[in-house]
Amino acid sequence: MTAQPATQVLDASEGAPDAAAEQAARTLAAGGLVAFPTETVYGLGADATSGAAVARLYDAKGRPAFNPLIAHVADTAAARALARFDPAAEKLAAAFWPGPLTLVLPRLADCPVAELATAGLDTIAVRVPSHAIARAILVAFGRPVVAPSANRSGHVSPTTAQHVLADLRGRIELIVDGGGTPMGLESTIIACLDRPVLLRPGALPRAEIERLVSLAEAPRAAAAPADVDELPMAPGALASHYAPRARPRLDAQRVERGEALLAFGAQPVEGTAHAAAVLNLSPRGDLIEAAANLFSHLRALDGSGAATIAVMPVPRTGLGEAINDRLERAAAPRQ
Ligand code: TXA
Ligand code: MG
Repeated sequence: MTAQPATQVLDASEGAPDAAAEQAARTLAAGGLVAFPTETVYGLGADATSGAAVARLYDAKGRPAFNPLIAHVADTAAARALARFDPAAEKLAAAFWPGPLTLVLPRLADCPVAELATAGLDTIAVRVPSHAIARAILVAFGRPVVAPSANRSGHVSPTTAQHVLADLRGRIELIVDGGGTPMGLESTIIACLDRPVLLRPGALPRAEIERLVSLAEAPRAAAAPADVDELPMAPGALASHYAPRARPRLDAQRVERGEALLAFGAQPVEGTAHAAAVLNLSPRGDLIEAAANLFSHLRALDGSGAATIAVMPVPRTGLGEAINDRLERAAAPRQ
């Protein structure tokens, strides 16, 4: 693989994904980096068993640290070759895989995933995605694929192939374009180590999980630092690498002069007329639609040049928990 690959975009938005999947699998086998759609967001895939491929992936993302990655596999049987399942993990996998759930489990001694991908931890995050293109790639490749969200570190997760291209053109070999991702929010992460703990709210709502197992709360400090990806701006040390980024102002009741507006629901907002730009997460107040629009709307409003994005309140029920989590991270003070 060359240091500066030309990035090919393969249209797989219509028809059977098999031809695209075969090419993706060949690229992965050669140590290349392939962005592909999942039901949550676009992932940037590398051969999980190759330390060299994983190292290239961190380099392409520009990660400030080697955050541990999620190993994606085609089915639960493949996941069992990587990690140990306790009864709670068994229950959750049976109910929600394939789908937007990631399980953090004890890593098996003979787990073939490169140590670098799990950042030297004795645990591993695994997920079986449901998206047809992701599944076709995993089946064609036949080995685990580590795939963080396919954005440069510090940017929001990509929900279209165009977002991936904007962040990673010239840094990865292939983008499989499957159109917009249906859910638009990253997977929910549950650790099943001692008792089930929610590490990251996500596309699978907490209430669905709590129907099967009771969840202990992760201390915010334990969940947050490892995951800087949702922040749409660069942390201080890297600030010069990125264009200035707009900062969300949460629970806004009106739009101040010069602000962009991220609306939710049909309620009119005072000051909309002088907003630098206006987008609505869901005019009909639907949290599923809002989740799907969240990252693309944040990107678009960021592009308006406004320094601040006034964000109307979003209810915290269902997917609203994950939406508010991502908005709070984006609005957090930058170090
Ligand atoms: O929806 C998703 O999960 C997407 C798609 C592409 O599958 N992937 C994704 O990956 O969001 P990434 O790398 O952007 O976020 C993975 C999160 C990080 O916060 C990481 O710290 C956490 O999972 N993680 C991975 N392995 C872990 C482990 N062993 N223990 C605790 N957290 C872990
Ligand atoms: Mg991410």
